[in-house]
Formats: sequence, structure tokens, C-alpha cells
Amino acid sequence: MTHEAFIQRLPKVELHVHLEGTLEPEMAFELGRRNGVALPYASANEMRAAYDFSDLQSFLDIYYASCSVLRTEQDFYDLTRAYLDRAIADNVRHVEPFFDPQTHTARGVAYHDVVSGIRRALDEALERDGITSKLIMCVLRDLSEDEAMAALRTALSDETTIDGIGMDSTEIGNPPTKFHSLYAFARAAGLRAVAHAGEEGPASYIRDSIDLLGAERIDHGVRCGEDPALVGRLIRDRICLTICPLSNVALRVVESIEDHPLREMLEVGLAVTVNSDDPAYFRGYIGDNYRAVTDALELTEDHLAELAFNAIVGSFADDERKIELLGELNAVTG
Ligand code: ADE
Ligand code: ZN
Repeated sequence: MTHEAFIQRLPKVELHVHLEGTLEPEMAFELGRRNGVALPYASANEMRAAYDFSDLQSFLDIYYASCSVLRTEQDFYDLTRAYLDRAIADNVRHVEPFFDPQTHTARGVAYHDVVSGIRRALDEALERDGITSKLIMCVLRDLSEDEAMAALRTALSDETTIDGIGMDSTEIGNPPTKFHSLYAFARAAGLRAVAHAGEEGPASYIRDSIDLLGAERIDHGVRCGEDPALVGRLIRDRICLTICPLSNVALRVVESIEDHPLREMLEVGLAVTVNSDDPAYFRGYIGDNYRAVTDALELTEDHLAELAFNAIVGSFADDERKIELLGELNAVTG
């Protein structure tokens, strides 16, 4: 089997994808027309051509501005459905997407419309395509803990449920310590916990996310190598890291895909996984990310099978579903 065919057939689990980051320029224009919201670009092609980022913040500024076209329950359904269609094409079998409700409620969109549009598409994908999911709400770490707490209370009181809490947005200057009470409250309410850490921020943010917030998985974590003791801890406790290779190149966390530490991380025993982050902005969905690292880092089928295995084990799927997915993986890897 060629690597291409092997990658295609791998049953994939995506643990790090922001639904707002799956908004393709064509859909942004379509929703903009539908909702009477203008975009600062003449065309979808011009919008795509503007995606040349120097760091995380330069991306976030464009990402939040483009969210202005998302207004109704149907918009959030359409966005999620389009992502799921792409995921199905890549043989994604389980997904745990993020959404950023504060970005939408700040513009007057009702939280319920956001979450119910997303849930409707996820429920339909389970029925129609057999894709299972867990939904993770992220709080914006550049805003206050009080604002995050208000968003969480709204989410917990909504009839449409969420499964987990995460945090994203501007990392540097917004340490995990800022959200200590929020995570304690979320975990007491039964939510699973993840956190972006060690993308642009220091390795200490990874450690504090685990120790102070109770994060069960670290989103990115690519800077953990700066602290060898932390690497030992992550290996020992099998803490899953959701690596996003094309994102890391686009946001200049690494210089090039050839320089990405993913292969070394895998070989020292870290529980790394491959994910897309914001695929509409970083030129690649999960399959593209698998192909890019396979070519650039000369990954073998054993490496690839381990990446897919780590994602199944690191997911929040229940044990029965994990066993099913491991069976699907075995059928491909022999
Ligand atoms: N929001 C969307 N993508 C993000 C990323 N890569 N880091 C932090 N916040 C984000
Ligand atoms: Zn992310």
C-alpha cells in the first residue's frame, strides 16, 4: 500500500479543530450575502490571498473579524456540516471540535443558536455517517475570568449540552493561573478539561494547565521540549498533545514543516496526535496534515499507526467506542 492509501484508510480522530477556523472564504461570502454582512475583501480568492500570518495574533485578528458573517442557528449548522463533509472525506471517525461562544455572543448572537446549530450537524453526522463526537466550548483567555465564568454558566444552563471546556486565543500574557476558578467550576460540573498551552507560550504554561487547571489534554504543547523534566512527566502520564503541524508553520511556531519536532516527540514516547486547528486558514484539513508530516519527516506506517492510536486513546470517547475505533485501526494496520 502506498503511504497515500495508508493515510486515507487510517480511521482518524480529530481532537483539535476550531469550527470557526473551518470557515472557507466561499462560505464566508455566501453567509455574508445571506446576512447582509460585508467582508473587507473583493472576493473569496482575495480573502484567501490575505492569509499570510506573522504570528498567532495576526491570525486571530482576521479569524475574529471573519466570524461576523455567522449569525443564525442555520449558519452554525452549515459551518459544522461543511467541516464534517471534509472530515468524512478524510475518514475521520470521531471528532471533538471547539467553538468560541464569546466571539458570537459579544455580537448579539444568542448562545443557544450557536450551540444548537453545531449540535444539530453533529447529531445528524452520527445518524448519517456514524461519526461520533464530543463538543468542547473554549473560553477566550485574553478576556477576564469573570467573562469566561458568565459564558460557562450560560452554557451549563442551556438545554443543548457541551462535553468539555477549553481555552484559546492570545496565549502570551494570559497564563493558565488566570482561569483557576473557572476550570475548578467546570470540572465540578462534570466537564472534561483541555487547554491550549505551549503554542507561543512557555513550557510552564503546559505544566500549570495540567497541575492547576486539571487539563487532561494539551492543545499544541509543541514547546514542551524546552523543559526536559516536563517532557518526562508528559511521557510518564501519557498526556495527549494535540499537535497541528500546518498551523505551526503558518503561525511561525516552527520555521518549516521539515523542522517540525513531531517525529522526535513521537519517538521519545510522547502521546502526540495530528490535527488541523483552523484548516480554512492554514491550507489543510487533517488528511493534509498527515500527508505533510509523512512526506517532510519521512514517517513510516508504524509512526502513522501510532499517531492514529494516540488520538483514539487520548479522546473522550467512551470505552466501548474506543474499542470499536481500535478495531478499525487494527483492520488497517494488520
Ligand atoms: N483560536 C483558533 N485557533 C487558535 C490557535 N491556534 N491558538 C489559539 N487560539 C486559537
Ligand atoms: Zn487551536
